[in-house]
Amino acid sequence: MQDAAAALLAWYDQHARQMPWRIPPHSPQRPDPYRIWLSEVMLQQTTVAAVRSYFDRFTTRWPTVSALAQAQDAAVMAEWAGLGYYARARNLLKCARMVQALGGFPTTYAGLLGLPGIGPYTAAAIAAIAFNEPATVVDGNVERVIARLFNVSTPLPKAKPELAALAKTLTPQHRPGDYAQAVMDLGATLCTPRNPACGLCPLRRFCAAHAVGTQADLPRRSPKPEKPTRLGLLWLARHPDGRWLVEQRPETGLLGGTIGFPGNGWDSKSPHQTAPITANWQDIGQVHHTFTHFHAALTVLVATTSAQPDHGMFQPVNPDDLPSLMRKAHNLAAPALLQR
Ligand code: ADE
Repeated sequence: MQDAAAALLAWYDQHARQMPWRIPPHSPQRPDPYRIWLSEVMLQQTTVAAVRSYFDRFTTRWPTVSALAQAQDAAVMAEWAGLGYYARARNLLKCARMVQALGGFPTTYAGLLGLPGIGPYTAAAIAAIAFNEPATVVDGNVERVIARLFNVSTPLPKAKPELAALAKTLTPQHRPGDYAQAVMDLGATLCTPRNPACGLCPLRRFCAAHAVGTQADLPRRSPKPEKPTRLGLLWLARHPDGRWLVEQRPETGLLGGTIGFPGNGWDSKSPHQTAPITANWQDIGQVHHTFTHFHAALTVLVATTSAQPDHGMFQPVNPDDLPSLMRKAHNLAAPALLQR
């Protein structure tokens, strides 16, 4: 299988995608572990296209891990707004502070695994890309490439250990960082979920699925349970001076540590049974957002009031600093209130 790895590396030399954190193949420069780490954490649940602008803003504002370690928590949460999975942003800061205390990033897979927010995938990606350790990176793209290359018909998620073991047999000792990025690029550009571009694929002659024509059906997946829809309320109270009634969400759980509007019914942490403030509430419609395990359909209630709230406080709100769900509610409520 080392012939396959060599073919993939030769393809990567010609076709590597450019990314703001990447060093092109055969460059004398070494990648900056801070930039590799930051990009990999951002890429954990988010596409390359969505991450680019966040990555640029973060590295402009905090060019080094020490700069990030010294940032205000609220500033980092605000820059993260819209990327989702807010536990990642809190772990990002914890990790930056731990790395600063250690005097630098650990340089091995095992060392990196000990950092907050770094699981097997991210530790392997950083070890391979930043430190050239032949660690095997397995994400959804890699699982697809491997399932096809070896014609694995076991459905996911059951196939995960089998695919990881096969991926390991393919990982070369030579240029493991370029190899890791090459498999990801292959999965993103040619070995795509639908209509894989086998005609352009450097692994075609090694590909067991291509040989028998099963590539488009792999990897197989066990049916996922349907996501339930949770209904609930969000109360958006606007002070006549333009501030909004917001509260800081609990550190753990959904949208943990972010700023939001008081709500009820849609997540187990929402403390409110009734409106957080006395006002003439008006129903202006619903906002929808999909989380990992459920869809939320929330009725937005609005009011203008200067009454004293039971919870939270009136604060100026920049919608760009809010998580997507809260921004959707704000963007529905603001014009409705201004019309009145
Ligand atoms: N997805 C996650 N990490 C990546 C990387 N380093 N290159 C391309 N896609 C990725």
